[in-house]
Amino acid sequence: MEEFTRVEVGRINTPIEYLENLSKYFNKGDIFIKRDDLTGLAMGGNKTRKLDYIIKYALDHNYTTLLTYGAAQTNHGRLSIAGANKFGLKSILVVEGKKPPLLEGNLALDVMMDGEVIFIDNEGYSEEEYLKHKQEVVDNIIYERIQQNEKVLEIPMGGSNALGAYGYMQCIKEIVMDTKWDDINLDYLVCAYGSMGTYAGLVLGAKYYKTDFVVVGIPVFPEPFPAEDCVKLANELAQELDIDIEVTLDDLLILGGMSNNKYAGPAYGETNQEIRDAMYLMAQKESIILDPAYTGKMFYGFTSLIKENYFSNSNVLLLHTGGYPGLFVDKHIKNITKDLGHKVKQF
Ligand SMILES: Cc1ncc(COP(=O)(O)O)c(C=O)c1O
Repeated sequence: MEEFTRVEVGRINTPIEYLENLSKYFNKGDIFIKRDDLTGLAMGGNKTRKLDYIIKYALDHNYTTLLTYGAAQTNHGRLSIAGANKFGLKSILVVEGKKPPLLEGNLALDVMMDGEVIFIDNEGYSEEEYLKHKQEVVDNIIYERIQQNEKVLEIPMGGSNALGAYGYMQCIKEIVMDTKWDDINLDYLVCAYGSMGTYAGLVLGAKYYKTDFVVVGIPVFPEPFPAEDCVKLANELAQELDIDIEVTLDDLLILGGMSNNKYAGPAYGETNQEIRDAMYLMAQKESIILDPAYTGKMFYGFTSLIKENYFSNSNVLLLHTGGYPGLFVDKHIKNITKDLGHKVKQF
Protein backbone atom coordinates (compact mmCIF):
# COMPACT_ATOMS: atom_id res chain seq x y z
CA MET A 1 0.00 0.00 0.00
CA GLU A 2 1.15 3.50 -0.84
CA GLU A 3 0.96 5.71 2.25
CA PHE A 4 0.03 9.37 2.45
CA THR A 5 2.05 11.44 4.87
CA ARG A 6 0.57 13.86 7.38
CA VAL A 7 1.18 16.93 9.42
CA GLU A 8 -0.24 17.12 12.90
CA VAL A 9 -3.22 19.45 12.61
CA GLY A 10 -4.81 17.99 15.72
CA ARG A 11 -4.13 15.11 18.05
CA ILE A 12 -4.74 11.56 16.95
CA ASN A 13 -4.69 8.59 19.35
CA THR A 14 -7.85 9.89 20.98
CA PRO A 15 -9.13 7.84 23.92
CA ILE A 16 -11.76 5.11 23.85
CA GLU A 17 -13.92 5.37 26.97
CA TYR A 18 -16.35 2.87 28.43
CA LEU A 19 -19.82 4.36 28.92
CA GLU A 20 -20.67 2.52 32.09
CA ASN A 21 -23.81 4.41 33.02
CA LEU A 22 -25.32 4.19 29.55
CA SER A 23 -24.41 0.52 29.23
CA LYS A 24 -26.25 -0.14 32.53
CA TYR A 25 -29.16 2.06 31.44
CA PHE A 26 -29.80 0.09 28.24
CA ASN A 27 -28.54 -3.20 29.68
CA LYS A 28 -28.06 -4.71 26.22
CA GLY A 29 -24.28 -4.88 25.87
CA ASP A 30 -21.26 -2.65 26.36
CA ILE A 31 -21.14 0.82 24.87
CA PHE A 32 -17.87 2.68 24.27
CA ILE A 33 -17.06 6.04 22.76
CA LYS A 34 -14.06 7.16 20.70
CA ARG A 35 -13.38 10.74 21.67
CA ASP A 36 -12.52 12.39 18.34
CA ASP A 37 -14.09 15.50 19.85
CA LEU A 38 -10.77 15.71 21.72
CA THR A 39 -8.51 16.17 18.72
CA GLY A 40 -7.50 19.47 20.26
CA LEU A 41 -7.21 22.24 17.72
CA ALA A 42 -9.80 25.04 18.00
CA MET A 43 -12.36 22.93 19.87
CA GLY A 44 -11.53 19.73 17.99
CA GLY A 45 -13.59 17.32 15.95
CA ASN A 46 -13.27 14.80 13.13
CA LYS A 47 -12.04 17.22 10.49
CA THR A 48 -8.54 17.47 11.92
CA ARG A 49 -7.83 13.86 10.91
CA LYS A 50 -8.79 14.73 7.34
CA LEU A 51 -6.88 17.99 7.36
CA ASP A 52 -3.70 16.24 8.55
CA TYR A 53 -3.37 14.83 5.03
CA ILE A 54 -4.97 17.67 3.09
CA ILE A 55 -2.70 20.32 4.63
CA LYS A 56 0.38 18.13 4.14
CA TYR A 57 -0.56 17.92 0.47
CA ALA A 58 -1.03 21.71 0.33
CA LEU A 59 2.39 22.34 1.90
CA ASP A 60 4.12 19.78 -0.33
CA HIS A 61 2.63 21.41 -3.43
CA ASN A 62 3.34 25.01 -2.39
CA TYR A 63 -0.25 26.09 -1.94
CA THR A 64 -0.57 29.29 0.10
CA THR A 65 -4.35 29.44 0.62
CA LEU A 66 -7.03 26.88 1.47
CA LEU A 67 -10.49 27.54 0.07
CA THR A 68 -13.39 25.45 1.23
CA TYR A 69 -17.17 25.34 1.38
CA GLY A 70 -19.86 24.73 3.95
CA ALA A 71 -22.94 25.93 5.75
CA ALA A 72 -22.69 28.83 8.20
CA GLN A 73 -22.06 26.39 11.05
CA THR A 74 -19.55 24.24 9.21
CA ASN A 75 -17.13 22.57 11.60
CA HIS A 76 -14.93 21.70 8.65
CA GLY A 77 -14.72 25.41 7.77
CA ARG A 78 -13.65 26.29 11.33
CA LEU A 79 -11.01 23.58 11.42
CA SER A 80 -9.71 24.40 7.93
CA ILE A 81 -9.18 27.98 9.08
CA ALA A 82 -7.54 26.74 12.29
CA GLY A 83 -5.30 24.31 10.41
CA ALA A 84 -4.35 26.95 7.86
CA ASN A 85 -3.31 29.34 10.64
CA LYS A 86 -1.22 26.69 12.33
CA PHE A 87 0.77 26.03 9.15
CA GLY A 88 1.11 29.62 7.95
CA LEU A 89 -1.51 29.39 5.20
CA LYS A 90 -4.38 31.73 4.40
CA SER A 91 -7.95 30.52 4.40
CA ILE A 92 -11.19 31.30 2.62
CA LEU A 93 -14.56 29.84 3.60
CA VAL A 94 -17.39 30.11 1.07
CA VAL A 95 -20.88 29.89 2.56
CA GLU A 96 -24.20 29.78 0.73
CA GLY A 97 -26.75 32.43 1.69
CA LYS A 98 -26.83 35.78 3.45
CA LYS A 99 -24.42 36.99 6.08
CA PRO A 100 -26.34 36.70 9.38
CA PRO A 101 -26.58 39.72 11.69
CA LEU A 102 -25.14 37.72 14.59
CA LEU A 103 -21.98 35.66 14.19
CA GLU A 104 -22.93 32.66 16.28
CA GLY A 105 -21.12 29.43 17.10
CA ASN A 106 -18.57 28.41 14.50
CA LEU A 107 -18.83 31.71 12.62
CA ALA A 108 -17.60 33.66 15.66
CA LEU A 109 -14.57 31.35 15.87
CA ASP A 110 -13.96 31.62 12.11
CA VAL A 111 -13.59 35.38 12.30
CA MET A 112 -11.65 35.28 15.57
CA MET A 113 -9.09 33.13 13.74
CA ASP A 114 -9.07 35.59 10.83
CA GLY A 115 -10.53 33.24 8.26
CA GLU A 116 -11.92 35.09 5.25
CA VAL A 117 -15.60 34.17 5.26
CA ILE A 118 -17.53 34.93 2.08
CA PHE A 119 -21.31 34.53 1.91
CA ILE A 120 -22.73 34.17 -1.60
CA ASP A 121 -26.39 35.11 -1.65
CA ASN A 122 -28.67 32.51 -3.20
CA GLU A 123 -31.85 34.55 -3.27
CA GLY A 124 -33.62 34.58 -6.64
CA TYR A 125 -31.55 31.77 -8.15
CA SER A 126 -32.72 28.29 -9.09
CA GLU A 127 -30.43 25.58 -7.71
CA GLU A 128 -28.75 25.16 -11.07
CA GLU A 129 -28.31 28.91 -11.64
CA TYR A 130 -26.92 29.32 -8.15
CA LEU A 131 -24.27 26.63 -8.67
CA LYS A 132 -23.15 28.45 -11.81
CA HIS A 133 -23.17 31.82 -10.07
CA LYS A 134 -21.23 30.47 -7.07
CA GLN A 135 -18.63 28.91 -9.36
CA GLU A 136 -18.18 32.23 -11.17
CA VAL A 137 -17.69 34.10 -7.90
CA VAL A 138 -15.21 31.48 -6.66
CA ASP A 139 -13.34 31.45 -9.98
CA ASN A 140 -12.99 35.23 -9.74
CA ILE A 141 -11.68 34.99 -6.20
CA ILE A 142 -9.13 32.35 -7.22
CA TYR A 143 -8.09 34.40 -10.28
CA GLU A 144 -7.64 37.49 -8.12
CA ARG A 145 -5.48 35.53 -5.64
CA ILE A 146 -3.35 34.06 -8.43
CA GLN A 147 -2.57 37.62 -9.49
CA GLN A 148 -1.44 38.27 -5.94
CA ASN A 149 0.95 35.32 -6.26
CA GLU A 150 -1.18 33.07 -4.10
CA LYS A 151 -1.82 29.42 -4.93
CA VAL A 152 -5.28 28.33 -3.84
CA LEU A 153 -6.17 24.74 -2.93
CA GLU A 154 -9.89 24.06 -3.23
CA ILE A 155 -11.11 21.56 -0.65
CA PRO A 156 -14.59 20.04 -1.08
CA MET A 157 -17.29 20.45 1.54
CA GLY A 158 -16.49 18.46 4.67
CA GLY A 159 -12.94 17.73 3.49
CA SER A 160 -14.45 14.63 1.90
CA ASN A 161 -11.97 13.73 -0.79
CA ALA A 162 -9.66 10.72 -0.91
CA LEU A 163 -6.96 12.43 1.17
CA GLY A 164 -9.49 13.34 3.86
CA ALA A 165 -11.05 9.88 3.90
CA TYR A 166 -7.56 8.42 4.39
CA GLY A 167 -7.52 10.11 7.80
CA TYR A 168 -10.42 7.89 8.83
CA MET A 169 -8.98 4.80 7.19
CA GLN A 170 -6.02 5.31 9.52
CA CYS A 171 -8.37 5.82 12.45
CA ILE A 172 -9.46 2.17 11.99
CA LYS A 173 -5.86 1.08 12.59
CA GLU A 174 -5.86 3.08 15.80
CA ILE A 175 -9.17 1.55 16.93
CA VAL A 176 -7.99 -1.99 16.12
CA MET A 177 -4.77 -1.51 18.10
CA ASP A 178 -6.44 0.17 21.09
CA THR A 179 -9.29 -2.33 21.39
CA LYS A 180 -6.83 -5.23 21.11
CA TRP A 181 -4.73 -3.70 23.87
CA ASP A 182 -7.79 -3.23 26.09
CA ASP A 183 -9.27 -6.64 25.22
CA ILE A 184 -12.46 -5.19 23.77
CA ASN A 185 -14.13 -7.25 21.05
CA LEU A 186 -16.18 -4.78 19.10
CA ASP A 187 -19.19 -5.75 17.03
CA TYR A 188 -20.13 -2.31 15.68
CA LEU A 189 -18.59 1.11 15.14
CA VAL A 190 -21.27 3.79 14.73
CA CYS A 191 -20.67 7.21 13.18
CA ALA A 192 -22.54 10.16 11.67
CA TYR A 193 -22.85 10.06 7.86
CA GLY A 194 -22.67 13.59 6.43
CA SER A 195 -20.46 14.49 3.47
CA MET A 196 -19.37 10.82 3.66
CA GLY A 197 -15.58 11.13 3.97
CA THR A 198 -15.50 9.84 7.51
CA TYR A 199 -17.71 6.85 6.73
CA ALA A 200 -16.00 6.04 3.41
CA GLY A 201 -12.58 6.03 5.09
CA LEU A 202 -13.79 3.89 7.98
CA VAL A 203 -15.43 1.34 5.66
CA LEU A 204 -12.34 1.00 3.49
CA GLY A 205 -10.21 0.77 6.64
CA ALA A 206 -12.44 -1.93 8.11
CA LYS A 207 -12.14 -3.96 4.91
CA TYR A 208 -8.40 -3.42 4.55
CA TYR A 209 -7.57 -4.18 8.19
CA LYS A 210 -10.12 -7.05 8.24
CA THR A 211 -11.93 -5.92 11.37
CA ASP A 212 -14.40 -8.13 13.18
CA PHE A 213 -16.70 -5.14 13.58
CA VAL A 214 -19.10 -3.58 11.09
CA VAL A 215 -19.16 0.19 10.48
CA VAL A 216 -22.64 1.70 10.78
CA GLY A 217 -23.42 5.12 9.32
CA ILE A 218 -26.31 7.22 10.56
CA PRO A 219 -27.22 9.99 8.13
CA VAL A 220 -27.50 13.52 9.45
CA PHE A 221 -29.15 14.94 6.32
CA PRO A 222 -32.77 13.81 5.78
CA GLU A 223 -31.83 13.20 2.13
CA PRO A 224 -28.36 11.68 2.52
CA PHE A 225 -25.71 11.57 -0.17
CA PRO A 226 -26.27 8.35 -2.16
CA ALA A 227 -24.50 5.22 -0.96
CA GLU A 228 -23.08 4.84 -4.50
CA ASP A 229 -21.15 8.11 -4.04
CA CYS A 230 -19.72 6.79 -0.81
CA VAL A 231 -18.60 3.57 -2.52
CA LYS A 232 -17.03 5.67 -5.28
CA LEU A 233 -15.07 7.76 -2.77
CA ALA A 234 -13.84 4.67 -0.89
CA ASN A 235 -12.71 3.05 -4.16
CA GLU A 236 -11.03 6.23 -5.35
CA LEU A 237 -8.99 6.14 -2.14
CA ALA A 238 -8.24 2.41 -2.58
CA GLN A 239 -6.98 3.15 -6.10
CA GLU A 240 -4.80 6.05 -4.99
CA LEU A 241 -3.29 3.80 -2.34
CA ASP A 242 -2.80 1.07 -4.93
CA ILE A 243 -4.51 -1.55 -2.80
CA ASP A 244 -6.37 -4.43 -4.31
CA ILE A 245 -9.69 -3.94 -2.55
CA GLU A 246 -13.03 -3.03 -3.96
CA VAL A 247 -15.69 -1.60 -1.68
CA THR A 248 -19.22 -2.48 -2.77
CA LEU A 249 -22.68 -1.45 -1.58
CA ASP A 250 -22.75 -4.67 0.48
CA ASP A 251 -19.94 -3.30 2.64
CA LEU A 252 -22.06 -0.34 3.75
CA LEU A 253 -24.56 -0.36 6.60
CA ILE A 254 -26.35 2.98 6.50
CA LEU A 255 -29.38 2.91 8.77
CA GLY A 256 -32.59 4.91 8.88
CA GLY A 257 -33.18 5.20 5.15
CA MET A 258 -31.56 6.90 2.17
CA SER A 259 -34.62 9.08 1.72
CA ASN A 260 -36.35 10.83 4.60
CA ASN A 261 -33.85 9.32 7.01
CA LYS A 262 -35.61 8.66 10.31
CA TYR A 263 -32.82 9.84 12.55
CA ALA A 264 -31.81 13.02 10.71
CA GLY A 265 -34.56 15.27 12.04
CA PRO A 266 -36.45 17.85 10.00
CA ALA A 267 -33.46 19.36 8.15
CA TYR A 268 -29.69 19.75 8.25
CA GLY A 269 -28.75 21.53 11.46
CA GLU A 270 -32.29 21.29 12.86
CA THR A 271 -33.32 19.05 15.73
CA ASN A 272 -36.58 17.61 17.02
CA GLN A 273 -37.53 16.60 20.55
CA GLU A 274 -36.24 13.02 20.12
CA ILE A 275 -32.81 14.17 18.99
CA ARG A 276 -32.57 16.61 21.87
CA ASP A 277 -33.70 13.97 24.36
CA ALA A 278 -30.89 11.72 23.13
CA MET A 279 -28.43 14.59 23.63
CA TYR A 280 -29.76 15.18 27.17
CA LEU A 281 -29.47 11.46 27.94
CA MET A 282 -25.78 11.42 26.99
CA ALA A 283 -25.17 14.61 28.96
CA GLN A 284 -26.98 13.34 32.05
CA LYS A 285 -25.60 9.78 32.07
CA GLU A 286 -22.04 10.40 30.93
CA SER A 287 -21.44 14.17 31.04
CA ILE A 288 -20.47 14.03 27.38
CA ILE A 289 -21.86 16.82 25.24
CA LEU A 290 -23.13 16.04 21.75
CA ASP A 291 -23.86 18.57 19.03
CA PRO A 292 -27.25 19.16 17.38
CA ALA A 293 -26.18 18.72 13.73
CA TYR A 294 -24.15 15.49 13.76
CA THR A 295 -23.40 13.56 16.92
CA GLY A 296 -26.82 14.22 18.49
CA LYS A 297 -28.46 12.66 15.43
CA MET A 298 -26.02 9.75 15.36
CA PHE A 299 -26.79 9.06 19.02
CA TYR A 300 -30.53 9.44 18.51
CA GLY A 301 -30.28 6.78 15.79
CA PHE A 302 -28.27 4.57 18.11
CA THR A 303 -30.74 4.91 21.02
CA SER A 304 -33.70 4.17 18.73
CA LEU A 305 -31.99 1.09 17.31
CA ILE A 306 -30.87 -0.27 20.66
CA LYS A 307 -34.42 0.12 21.99
CA GLU A 308 -35.53 -1.99 19.02
CA ASN A 309 -32.91 -4.59 20.06
CA TYR A 310 -30.78 -3.93 16.97
CA PHE A 311 -27.52 -3.88 18.94
CA SER A 312 -28.52 -6.43 21.61
CA ASN A 313 -25.68 -8.24 23.39
CA SER A 314 -23.15 -6.39 21.28
CA ASN A 315 -20.13 -4.24 22.00
CA VAL A 316 -20.64 -0.94 20.26
CA LEU A 317 -18.17 1.90 19.78
CA LEU A 318 -19.73 5.29 19.08
CA LEU A 319 -17.53 7.80 17.24
CA HIS A 320 -17.77 11.26 18.79
CA THR A 321 -16.89 13.54 15.90
CA GLY A 322 -17.08 16.85 17.79
CA GLY A 323 -19.08 19.87 16.66
CA TYR A 324 -19.39 21.70 19.99
CA PRO A 325 -19.50 25.28 18.67
CA GLY A 326 -22.66 24.50 16.68
CA LEU A 327 -24.54 24.00 19.94
CA PHE A 328 -24.10 27.65 20.84
CA VAL A 329 -26.41 28.99 18.19
CA ASP A 330 -29.53 30.96 19.11
CA LYS A 331 -32.08 28.43 17.82
CA HIS A 332 -30.49 25.55 19.73
CA ILE A 333 -30.10 27.52 22.95
CA LYS A 334 -33.76 28.56 22.65
CA ASN A 335 -34.78 24.89 22.32
CA ILE A 336 -32.74 23.89 25.35
CA THR A 337 -34.28 26.75 27.32
CA LYS A 338 -37.75 25.63 26.23
CA ASP A 339 -37.08 22.00 27.17
CA LEU A 340 -35.11 22.46 30.37
CA GLY A 341 -35.54 26.06 31.50
CA HIS A 342 -38.01 24.98 34.20
CA LYS A 343 -35.16 23.20 36.00
CA VAL A 344 -33.37 26.46 36.72
CA LYS A 345 -34.54 27.97 39.99
CA GLN A 346 -34.84 31.61 40.93
CA PHE A 347 -34.94 32.68 44.56
C1 LIG B 1 -19.11 17.29 14.07
C2 LIG B 1 -19.21 16.50 12.82
N1 LIG B 1 -19.50 15.21 12.91
C3 LIG B 1 -19.64 14.44 11.81
C4 LIG B 1 -19.48 14.97 10.55
C5 LIG B 1 -19.71 14.09 9.36
O1 LIG B 1 -18.54 13.75 8.73
P1 LIG B 1 -18.52 13.56 7.16
O2 LIG B 1 -18.89 14.88 6.57
O3 LIG B 1 -17.14 13.13 6.86
O4 LIG B 1 -19.53 12.53 6.82
C6 LIG B 1 -19.16 16.33 10.42
C7 LIG B 1 -19.01 16.94 9.09
O5 LIG B 1 -19.07 18.10 8.88
C8 LIG B 1 -19.02 17.12 11.57
O6 LIG B 1 -18.72 18.42 11.50
